[in-house]
Amino acid sequence: APGDSVWHQRPVSKELWTEGFWPGILWYAYEYSKDESILEAAKGYTEVLEFLSEMPAYDHDLGFVMFCSYGNGYRLTGDERYKEIILATADRLAELYNPAVGTILSWPREVPAFGGHNTIMDNMMNLEMMFWAAKNGGNKSLYDVAVRHAEKTMECHFREDGGCYHVAVYDTLSGDFIRGCTHQGYADSSLWARGQSWAIYGYTVVYRETGDKTYLDFAVNIADMIMSKVTTDDAIPYWDYDAPVLEDTPRDASAAAITACGLLELSTFAPEGQKYFDYAEKILKSLSSEQYLAAPGENQGFVLMHSTGSLAHGSEIDVPLNYADYYYLEGLQRYMKLKGIEYKNL
Ligand code: GLY
Repeated sequence: APGDSVWHQRPVSKELWTEGFWPGILWYAYEYSKDESILEAAKGYTEVLEFLSEMPAYDHDLGFVMFCSYGNGYRLTGDERYKEIILATADRLAELYNPAVGTILSWPREVPAFGGHNTIMDNMMNLEMMFWAAKNGGNKSLYDVAVRHAEKTMECHFREDGGCYHVAVYDTLSGDFIRGCTHQGYADSSLWARGQSWAIYGYTVVYRETGDKTYLDFAVNIADMIMSKVTTDDAIPYWDYDAPVLEDTPRDASAAAITACGLLELSTFAPEGQKYFDYAEKILKSLSSEQYLAAPGENQGFVLMHSTGSLAHGSEIDVPLNYADYYYLEGLQRYMKLKGIEYKNL
């Protein structure tokens, strides 16, 4: 919270969606620095999460938690044990898939509150682990689950203008779409900023993994919508595009960082790729300015300031968040790769 000068660490838990980001940050930091002490820390903070691959999924966040940690860990070490854990986790996540609906149940515990099978836009981010598992020795049907989830979400979860609801509620038995609503946004039909970021990142991944041009066109549409809705000069959005803007309306740097990652990948596929690259570059430059970057030593090591976790719940407003840092680092890495900048030249 603003003014805090100490870390808030908690024991690992099946209920924390953010606990894969810190190991993920350490993996990116190790990749950059090749520092052995960071490698040891990355392994340690990753391996405490293994229990999640061995129990029924608490919710869809399993993908965030395990792919940012073990996924990066496997990418950088090739440790076969990590791979087995990812494959097991992808199977656990697939247990939340409801074939009558065609999507993964995001929050089993919220079924009574929403009155049906609920799927949130954030869930698009967890398809990448399923695609990866299907391609790397896991259950091949995970590919079909991921594609069907993306297809049904595309059909039901979006408004005419290309923006999305946060939550879609479906009839558990018939699979019919009941309604779109919000959990963390300003209003049911408003554009919660981070939700739009999950959408652009998620659908770009679906195009990468399927090669189906429908998803490329869809991702382009989301990207254009985001770029048309952002009203700030520095391209860092307010927490919800439709919330009234007052003097103290907070930004969400995390939404910007996630969008930058999505746009950078999209720029490699889309006919007008340069436009998306340029916008992502603008976001990264803003995030790298004094306005957003914590001064060295501030925030106990967090990199970015000015993110918003859930204003709708009065929680984590205008604060540093570990997922903002994670996607900022990922965005910088994507940017450097596309520009041909090597770490050793820095
Ligand atoms: N996935 C939860 C959030 O974006 O806040």
